[in-house]
Amino acid sequence: MLSFLVDWLNLLLRWAHFIIGIGWIGASFYFVWLDLSLRKREKMNPGVYGTSWMVHGGGFYHVEKYTVAPERLPEDLHWFVWEAYLTWLTGFCLLIVQYYLNASTYMIDPAVMPLEPWQAIAISIASLAAGWLLYDGLCRSPIGQKPALLGACVFVVICAAAFGFSHVFSGRAALIHVGALVGTMMAANVFMVIIPNQRKMTASLLAGEAPDPRLGQIGKQRSTHNNYLTLPVLLMMISGHYPMLYSHPETWLVVAFILVIGAMVRHYINRADAGDDFATYSWALLVAAIALVGAIYVTKPDDTPLSAGPVPSDTEMLAILDAHCVTCHAPDPAHESFDQPPGDVVLHTLSHLQRFGDIVIVQAVRGQAMPLGNESEMTRDERQALGAWIEANRQ
Ligand code: HEC
Repeated sequence: MLSFLVDWLNLLLRWAHFIIGIGWIGASFYFVWLDLSLRKREKMNPGVYGTSWMVHGGGFYHVEKYTVAPERLPEDLHWFVWEAYLTWLTGFCLLIVQYYLNASTYMIDPAVMPLEPWQAIAISIASLAAGWLLYDGLCRSPIGQKPALLGACVFVVICAAAFGFSHVFSGRAALIHVGALVGTMMAANVFMVIIPNQRKMTASLLAGEAPDPRLGQIGKQRSTHNNYLTLPVLLMMISGHYPMLYSHPETWLVVAFILVIGAMVRHYINRADAGDDFATYSWALLVAAIALVGAIYVTKPDDTPLSAGPVPSDTEMLAILDAHCVTCHAPDPAHESFDQPPGDVVLHTLSHLQRFGDIVIVQAVRGQAMPLGNESEMTRDERQALGAWIEANRQ
C-alpha cells in the first residue's frame, strides 16, 4: 500500500515537474526569440530600443523593449521567477522520491561502489552543492571575463562530474545526477544571480541613480549559459528510459556528445531567430550532426554473437531467473519496492522469458541495466547464458 501511494506521489511530482519545466523553458525560448526579433521602427516611445509585432490566438501583440527602464515602472510589473524555482523544487522532490527513497535499488550499484543508502544520498546532496559552488566560482574568477574560455571550462566541469558520478553511482543514477547538477546550476543562476542583479538595477533606477552596467552583463552571461544548457539538460532528464545511454561504461563521453549536440542545435536556433545569414551559422548544424554520429557510434551495441557460449538447460535457466529477476518481475513481486511487476514484464516462467526475449536482451544481456542496481550481482557468464537460451528458443 505504501509503495502504491509513493508511486502516486512520484507520478504527481513528475507531472508537476514537467508542466512547470515547460513553463520555464517555454518562457526562456520565447524571450530569447522576442529579444532577437526586435526591430527599430519609425515611431517609437522615448527609451525604447526596438519593438516586435506578433499574432497569436486571435489577437495582435505589440511589445516594446526598454534597454534601461521606462520612465516610470508600472505597479503590476510581472517577474518571471517561479517557473525556475518550482522546476528545481519539484525536480529535487522527485529525486528524493525516485532515488533517495530507493537508494539501494536505483542509486547504488555494488559493482561500482558498495555504498550504504545514507552515503549515496549524502554524496548526491553534497555534489549538487559543490557543483554549483565550483561553477559560480569559475564565473566570478578572472576566467569569467573570457566567455569562450569560461564556456570550455563549464563543459569540462560537467564532463568531469559525469566521470565522477559514474564511478560512484549506478549508470542510471549517474546520468540523472549530471542532469540534476546542470539543472541546479541553471535554477541557481536565476535565483542567486540573474534576479538579484535585476532587482538591484531596478532599485537604483527607482532611486534615480544610474544602474551599474556590470550587473546586467553578469546576468546576461548566466542567461547565455542557461540558454545553451537547456537542450542537453532535457535529454539527460529522460536518459533513464534509454539503457544505451546510461549503461555505457564511459558516461562522460556520452555526456560530452549530448552537450555538443544540444548546444549546437540551440546556437543554430538562436541565429536563425535573429535572422542571420544562413551561411554564417550553418556550421553549427554540421557540428551537431557530427557529434550525433559520434554518439550513435559510441553507444552501438557490442555485437559479439550471443549464442557463442553454451545454452543452459531449462532448469538452469529458471534458476538464473529466480536468482536475479523474479524478486521484481513476478505477478506478485517479493521485492519491497514493488507491488506490481515493473514495466509489466514478468519473468517467472520460460514462456514469459520467450515472450519478452528481445527486450530482455537489450536490458540484461547486451546492456547491464537489469537486474536493477545489480543487487544480486549477476555475472557475465549468467548474462551470456540468458542470451544464449533466448536465441536458442526463439519461436
Ligand atoms: C530490483 C528490481 C528488479 C530486478 C531484480 C530486475 N528488474 Fe527489470 N525492471 C525493474 C524496473 C523498476 C523496471 C522499469 C524500469 C523503468 O521504468 O525504466 C524494469 C524493467 C525491465 C524491463 C522492461 C524494459 C522496457 O523496455 O520496458 C525488462 C525487459 C527487464 N526489466 C528485465 C529484467 C531481467 C531480465 C532481470 C533479471 C536479469 C530483471 N529485469 C531484474 C526492476 C527490476
